[in-house]
This record gives sequence, C-alpha cells and structure tokens, in this order.
Amino acid sequence: MAETFDLVLKGGTVVNHDGIAPRDIGLRNGRIAAVGSLGASAAGEVIDCTGLHILPGVIDTQVHFREPGLEHKEDLETGSRAAVLGGVTAVFEMPNTNPPTTNPDALADKVRRARHRMFCDFAFYVGATRENVDDIPELERLEGSAGIKVFVGSSTGTLLVDDDPTLERIFAKLRRRAAFHSEDEARLRERAGIRRPGDPSSHPEWRDEIAALTSTQRLVRLAEKHGRRIHILHVSTAEEMAFLAEHKEWASVEVTPHHLTLVAPECYQRLGTYAQMNPPVREDRHRQALWAGLSAGIVDVLGSDHAPHTREEKDHAYPQSHSGMTGVQTLLPIMLDHVNAGRLSLERLVDLTSHGPQRLFGIRNKGRIAVGYDGDLTVVDLKRQQTIDNSMIASRCGWTPYHGVTVTGWPVGTFVRGRRVMWEGEVLGPAAGEPVRFYEGV
Ligand code: DOR
Repeated sequence: MAETFDLVLKGGTVVNHDGIAPRDIGLRNGRIAAVGSLGASAAGEVIDCTGLHILPGVIDTQVHFREPGLEHKEDLETGSRAAVLGGVTAVFEMPNTNPPTTNPDALADKVRRARHRMFCDFAFYVGATRENVDDIPELERLEGSAGIKVFVGSSTGTLLVDDDPTLERIFAKLRRRAAFHSEDEARLRERAGIRRPGDPSSHPEWRDEIAALTSTQRLVRLAEKHGRRIHILHVSTAEEMAFLAEHKEWASVEVTPHHLTLVAPECYQRLGTYAQMNPPVREDRHRQALWAGLSAGIVDVLGSDHAPHTREEKDHAYPQSHSGMTGVQTLLPIMLDHVNAGRLSLERLVDLTSHGPQRLFGIRNKGRIAVGYDGDLTVVDLKRQQTIDNSMIASRCGWTPYHGVTVTGWPVGTFVRGRRVMWEGEVLGPAAGEPVRFYEGV
C-alpha cells in the first residue's frame, strides 16, 4: 500500500551527508518520514521543488535578538522573522540582554517569551558571571539552554569575566561545550587610546590580532588543563586560525559571513561605523586565512553574530557608535553567493550550517535529512540573482551592511518541524517555535 504523508516536497535536489541527488521528501507529524522516489504516495500537500535545492535546516548558532530590555533594536519575534526569511530554521541566542540571561528565571522567561512567538526553533546561551559559577551544572541542563557563554573581552552589555580565578572556577564546572567571546580585556583597556575619534578604521588597530590571539591561547590552555571542550566564537585572525589548527582536540571554531566577506580598510571607507563589529573586520590577509581555515576543515560552524543596533546608535561618532550588524537574514544568501563563486562547495556549506552544529552541540533530531529527524528544511534557488536591499530586512533596525549587493543563490522556502513557515519571501504563520533539545541538556 502507498505511504501517506502530511506533506511531500517533490522533485528537488537534496544536499545531504550522502551527496547531492534528486529526491522527494515525505514529512509526517513534523518529522522526515521518507526520502527517495515517492511517486505513488498520497500526501495532504505536495510542493513542487523542481529546479530547487533542499538543504537540512540552517542552524545559526550565534544571534543577538535583544529581548528582554533592548526591544527598540530587535525582539524574539522580529529576529525570528528575519531568520526564516533567510532560510534559518533554528538559532542559538546570546545572553547580553537586559537583564542578562544569567539565572534559571531569566532563561525560563526567555523560553516563555519565545515559545510559539518565534517562527524558528531556539536555544538560549546562559552568561557566566562571578556570581553564578556554582549554578553552571544546573544552567547547562535547563530546558532551552544552549550551554554557557563567557565574554572574556567586553563587548555590548555588561557581561564580562576576565580574571583567572573565576575562569578557573568556571572551567572546573563546565560539562557541555562552552562558547567564548575571545579578546584580551587587559589589552583592550590598555590600548583604548589608540581609537581615533570619528575614524572606525582604527577599530581593528585597537582590538588587534594580539588581543584575539593571547585570549584564545589562554582559553585553550584552560581547556587543556581542565579537560573541557570550548567553542571560540567569531574567529577573526590569521594567527588564531594557525594556533587553533594545532588544538582541535579542545577547541571548535566559528567564523562569520562578515569576516569572510568584508575587508578593511575598504569596508570602513564605504560603510563607516556600519562595519564596526567586535571582533573587528580586518585586512585581507586575515580574510584569506579564514577561508584557508574553512577549506582545510579547521572551521566547524558558521554563525551570523546577528547584532542589530538602530541607525541612531550606529550614527554616533566613533567610538561612541555601537558595535554590531545584522546578519541572520543574509547568512545564507551571502554564503550561497560564495558557493556560486567557487569558494566552497554546497556540501561544505551544509557541513558548516547543519551537520557541524548538530555534531558540536549534540543537538537531538536536527541537522540532517534522514528518516526520524525533525522536518527542518531550507529550500534554495541556487541560480536566483537578487540584490539585497535594506527594505527586505525584517529586523527592527531595518538595515544590512550588504545593501545594494547582488548575490547569486537565494533561500526561497523554510520548513520548521514539517511546517512551511516561509515561501518566496513571505512569512507564513502561525509562529510555532520550540526549544532545541540536546543530548546533554533537555
Ligand atoms: O560587535 C558585537 N556586537 N560583538 C559582540 O560580541 C556583541 C554584539 C552585540 O551584542 O551588539
């Protein structure tokens, strides 16, 4: 007897662990129920995907959605709208909100706000502080927890742990892989005078490659000493990439689309403070080293570090201007354009956005197109040329550093646990986001 599905995606080209091939996908009860030729099957709905590629749902493991407390920049609903418009099916959100996410109540509050109000699935990082170290084992295991995030160098917000005694205590408590913003705070403080008022091109001179490298070396030493797994967020320097290549047994590596795409000094001349980010976008030798690290397999995941600020906040004169740019909606378009330009394969992109996050963070049921997995799918038109425009950006702040850039390759459909939440640039309700589940959490 023919199988029955709730939904069948027909005629698409599936990109997966076993290669790229034409396959139909049958979804039932929110999960993938069959992959193959589903000619005679019955389905509640059939979507023709001829000419399109179907990827496992894109997981963006670093976004800042600003709720609670900073909703004038973004909130969980607007951020997740931007995510699904960009083909992203799940996000890990950062703790530098107001109040920061540093205790069980703050985490539960975020989960409550997010559930069935976000369009994609979600997990929230919990920020380590001097005060909550003893609670780390509990904070790592709560529903919706992506694990622990430590700001070793200060950025937006108040979260910072830069002293050895507290870091030692944190490392002793960690069980899950923890994520680090790795810049040396003492060096940043020492060199604050290097910033030239009104000149954002001095941002990478201030937050230089030595600040990034010494911090990353210190974190790897601690990981080794305590036998813990660490995740270095937004690696931005050639020096760190060379060092991390020698320490893969301890540290996983994230790079961002903006560090792979933008380049100093040109980006500061063209975009001014709109290119200002921590860690900074640097000169071409760093960008080239990030690409080499990506090709060599040192890089594990891509994160957008989506960090929205209003135009007013970005328009302050440097260094009063805020650091951060939008990215969750443009991660996939920018990376598909790099695929079309031959800088990485489609399979490697899927490795970075789906298989990599699943493997590193022990995500249950997501990250590949296989029977039994969640029906999280990202449908892309590899040939579509599109000019990115500020008016498309669903984030509350309404701007992108890629305004006016024409890319080849575009997300046209987003499915979260079997539901079509975006098609052809339209967000289709209702929002049904749920917490991502982990082997080592809930
Ligand atoms: O530029 C940045 N902005 N880097 C960060 O680490 C934080 C982020 C933000 O939250 O604005």
